[in-house]
Amino acid sequence: MNILSLLSLAGGLTTAYASVTVYGITGVVQQTVLAPDATATPSPSVAAYVPPAFNTATLIPPPVPSPAPANQFNVQLLQNRADVNGVSIPQSGAFYGFSIEMSVATQVIGINSTYLNPPFLNLMSHVTERAGHVNIRVGGNTQETAVLVDSLSDGKMIEKDKEQSSNPTLTPTLYITPELLYMLRNVSSLLNARWYLGIPMNDTSKPRLQIAEAAEAILGDYLNGFQLGNEPNLYAAHKHRNDDYNQTSYFGEFGTMIQAINSDNQVTIKNNIIAPSISDTFWSPESLWDTGFLDSYGSSLGTIAVERYPDNNCAAAFPSPDTANSIVDPQERFPKYLNHKDYIIDTLAPYLNTANIAQSMGKPFMMFETNTASCGGFLGISDSFGAALWVLDYGLQMAYSNFTGSLLHVGGVSDVYNPFNRNSIYY
Ligand SMILES: *[C@@H]1O[C@H](CO)[C@@H](O)[C@H](O)[C@H]1NC(C)=O
Ligand SMILES: *[C@@H]1O[C@H](CO)[C@@H](O)[C@H](O)[C@H]1NC(C)=O
Ligand SMILES: *[C@@H]1O[C@H](CO)[C@@H](O)[C@H](O)[C@H]1NC(C)=O
Ligand SMILES: *[C@@H]1O[C@H](CO)[C@@H](O)[C@H](O)[C@H]1NC(C)=O
Ligand SMILES: *[C@@H]1O[C@H](CO)[C@@H](O)[C@H](O)[C@H]1NC(C)=O
Repeated sequence: MNILSLLSLAGGLTTAYASVTVYGITGVVQQTVLAPDATATPSPSVAAYVPPAFNTATLIPPPVPSPAPANQFNVQLLQNRADVNGVSIPQSGAFYGFSIEMSVATQVIGINSTYLNPPFLNLMSHVTERAGHVNIRVGGNTQETAVLVDSLSDGKMIEKDKEQSSNPTLTPTLYITPELLYMLRNVSSLLNARWYLGIPMNDTSKPRLQIAEAAEAILGDYLNGFQLGNEPNLYAAHKHRNDDYNQTSYFGEFGTMIQAINSDNQVTIKNNIIAPSISDTFWSPESLWDTGFLDSYGSSLGTIAVERYPDNNCAAAFPSPDTANSIVDPQERFPKYLNHKDYIIDTLAPYLNTANIAQSMGKPFMMFETNTASCGGFLGISDSFGAALWVLDYGLQMAYSNFTGSLLHVGGVSDVYNPFNRNSIYY
C-alpha cells in the first residue's frame, strides 16, 4: 500500500479546481443541468448561482470522540509476512482510483481528444508518479442508457436527450461518440491511466455492445475491463425493471449478456467483465451468490465488484412527500465520519465473506464506486478535512479487509463530494 498515493488523494479532496455549466440552487435542493458543454459561457443572471460543488459552507467541528482515539502506538515489526497476524493480501500502490460518471466526462477529463483539462492531467500524474498507474472508471447510472454513435450534429462527443440525468429514476439516452474513447486513450499516452468502462444492460433483449467493441480496439492494453450493468439491485426501485425483478431475474439477464459477449467477434477478450456492482439496498451479496452467480459466470469475470457509500443524502437531493421526514442534518451526521467504527468497520463488515470468496476464486474484489454519501454527498462534510481523513481510514481498512482496489466517485458540479473538480468559471 502506497501511503503517499493515499495522502495525495486526501490533499486533493480539499482542493476544488474548477467548475462548468451546471448551475444548482444552493442548499442541496434540486439542480438544473443546463448543458454538458465545458465551453459554454454563462449568462450573468445564471452565473449568480454557485453550483453545489463550489458551495463553501462549513459545519461546526464535532467534539473529539469519547473515548478519544489513541495517539501513541506500538507496532511490532516482524521479518516474515507469515509471522504477522491478520495481514492482508499484497496490495497495489494504485489501490485508490477514481470513478467518473459517464455523463460528466467532459466536465472532468476534457472536451475531446485534443482538449484535455490540464488540472486533471496534473492531478493524475501526481498519483501515477507515486502509485505507478491510476485506475479510472468511466460509468455510473448513466452508462445504462449509453449509445455509441459515429458523430453528433453539434460536433460534441457526449449528449443527453433530456435534462436531469443525475436523478436515477429518469433515464435519458446518453449518446457518446468514439471521440470519448480516443480522449481516454490520449490521456494514457501522456500518463499511465488505465480504464474501466461501463457498458449498458438496460435492455438485454437488444444487447448494445458497440461501446465494448470500440473501446477494446481504441484503448488496447490500457483497458482494464468492462463493468456490465450498474446497481442491478436498484433496477426495480428506479423503475428500470418490473417490481418483481429479483436476484434470479438478474442472474438470467446477466447470462443473456454474457452469451452476447461470447458470440461477438469484435469483443475478443471474454474474461474482463466487472460485476455485479450491487450496492447495499435490498440484496445482500450472499443473496446473489445463492443463485449460483459466481459459479456460473466466474470464468467471464475479471473482477468481482460492489458499490457502497456509508450514507446517503437522497431524501434532500430528490425531495418527495414520502422522504420529507428522512432528510439528514449534516451537522448531526458529521461525528460518524470521525470514528473508526460507524462508517469504516461497520460499513465494510458485510463484505468480508465476499472478499474471502474472491480470494479463493483468485479474482480481484473491488469497491467500484464510493464516497462519503450517495446522492451528491453532504454539504459541509463531503468537502471537509474530516472527510479526507475518513477516506484515508476507509481505504486502509478496505486494503486490510482484502479488497483489491476502490474507486472514489466524481459526480460533477451538482455534487459536493467530488475528490477534485474543474472550475473554469469560478476558479
Ligand atoms: C476539440 O474541441 C475543440 C474546441 O471546441 C475544437 O476546436 C477541435 O476541433 C476539437 N477536436 C476534435 C478532434 O474534435
Ligand atoms: C435502453 O436504452 C436505450 C438507449 O438509451 C433506449 O433507446 C431504450 O429505450 C432503453 N430500453 C429500455 C428497455 O429501457
Ligand atoms: C490525440 O488524439 C488526436 C485525435 O484522435 C490525435 O491526432 C493526437 O495525436 C492524439 N494525441 C496524443 C498525445 O496521443
Ligand atoms: C424471484 O422471483 C421468482 C418469481 O417469483 C421466484 O421463482 C424466485 O425464487 C425469486 N428469486 C429469489 C432469489 O427470491
Ligand atoms: C485477508 O486475507 C488474508 C490472507 O488470506 C487472511 O489471512 C486475513 O485474515 C484476511 N483478512 C480479513 C480481515 O478477513
